[in-house]
Amino acid sequence: MKEERISKPRGTSDFIGEDKVIFDAIEDNLFSAAEKFGCKRIDVPMFEDQQLFVRGVGEGSDIVSKEMFKLDVKGEHNYIMRPEFTASVNRAVIENKLFASPDLPIKLAYCGPVFRYERPQAGRLRQFNQFGVEFIDEKIDTMTAMDSVLLLYRAAEEILGHELYLKVNYLGGSESRENYKNALLDFYKDKVEHMCGDCHRRYQINVLRMLDCKVPEDIEINKMAPVISDYLIEEDKNNFETMLSALDALNIEYKRDERLVRGLDYYTGLVFEIYDPLNRSLGAIGAGGQYGKLMEELGGPEMEGIGFSFGIERLMLALDPIRKAHLIKDQSLDYFIVDLREKKDAKGIILADVLRSAGRTVSSSSYEKKLNGSLKMANRLNAKTTLIFTDTEPDVVLIKDMTTREQISYSSSDVDKIVSKLMEMER
Ligand code: HAM
Repeated sequence: MKEERISKPRGTSDFIGEDKVIFDAIEDNLFSAAEKFGCKRIDVPMFEDQQLFVRGVGEGSDIVSKEMFKLDVKGEHNYIMRPEFTASVNRAVIENKLFASPDLPIKLAYCGPVFRYERPQAGRLRQFNQFGVEFIDEKIDTMTAMDSVLLLYRAAEEILGHELYLKVNYLGGSESRENYKNALLDFYKDKVEHMCGDCHRRYQINVLRMLDCKVPEDIEINKMAPVISDYLIEEDKNNFETMLSALDALNIEYKRDERLVRGLDYYTGLVFEIYDPLNRSLGAIGAGGQYGKLMEELGGPEMEGIGFSFGIERLMLALDPIRKAHLIKDQSLDYFIVDLREKKDAKGIILADVLRSAGRTVSSSSYEKKLNGSLKMANRLNAKTTLIFTDTEPDVVLIKDMTTREQISYSSSDVDKIVSKLMEMER
């Protein structure tokens, strides 16, 4: 009896063929963009102690309260699959004492899968890939903050090939946030009982999160809520103005969005999201912000950070066919070997080995294929030249140029001589 087919879990992807090429090209592009800003690469574990995200991202966030992928492990640790990188990267900076570096800011770039138990839909997955950077310093100055925003903006512009826009807001330091939280607690006091269950919880744990609620009736209430800009202390207001002037000077299009609070609790100053005007339905293709207390909350020194992450799958969905073609590297094959001889010695295999050592890409058809089928396969693989061995002339190799369709016979059973002939023909 045929066994039942097993499918991939909902909200996950297989990357095959062209998709995989595009994925890798985006990743390469993003890393080279980050390297231009002086970033070094970092890898962190795919699973971490749950407490890292409870303390880092916050109990009030959806990521921690509803979307954690918990691992069933024996022992005293509660591990979860990482739902994001920022807390992990900050943990790694503390654990490996990178903060002691005399060369600040520390600039780190990363890429890999993250896991959130969300309701899957287009552009919303349960396993997706983030590319991001984190800049960490004693204090994040305007120059470092702008570097982070500029890297996000320019990298997305380069990949998608058109202008994008940013939404920005400023959440302020602890004093401004405390003022604002108190204003929100006051505003929701007589409304919370009419709001959703999540909002009840958010009211107790982190009232800021209530502004993120997606329930239509609650969205209406939130439209009347106080806005953060009215509660920023003078220093925060000035910092925000300085950053906005820098964005103006850089000619980066942005919209101020008073309701942008972001779904993670660690943000303190500038927060931002980047959108593609041609693909609005995707939501933010990248997002980030400043965090002033995360290092301390994770047991590290008093340092600040700023960073962002792109969702690579969202960038892929936003690519138009021309940009896709631009990203797909030349995938042609230099040589395709067809060995039609009844009794095959190792000649074809040795020839392929020598050609590969000379830096050429080589593949072959399965032995059962006939000439026609093999030539069709060579075409599909974009082979530049096909090399054919037959029983009719055992010491001859047929060299077929797949573009001009011209074919010559070269008489030799010596692999080195065949390779010299091919190199000569390439010139
Ligand atoms: P985030 O907004 O949660 O921020 O995620 C960043 C990006 O990941 C989003 O803008 C989106 O493109 C993508 N993304 C989020 N959820 C999904 C999903 N379910 N499916 C597909 N793509 C998704 C963070 O994760 C922060 N750690 C960003 C950051 C870095 N802040 C400071 N440094």
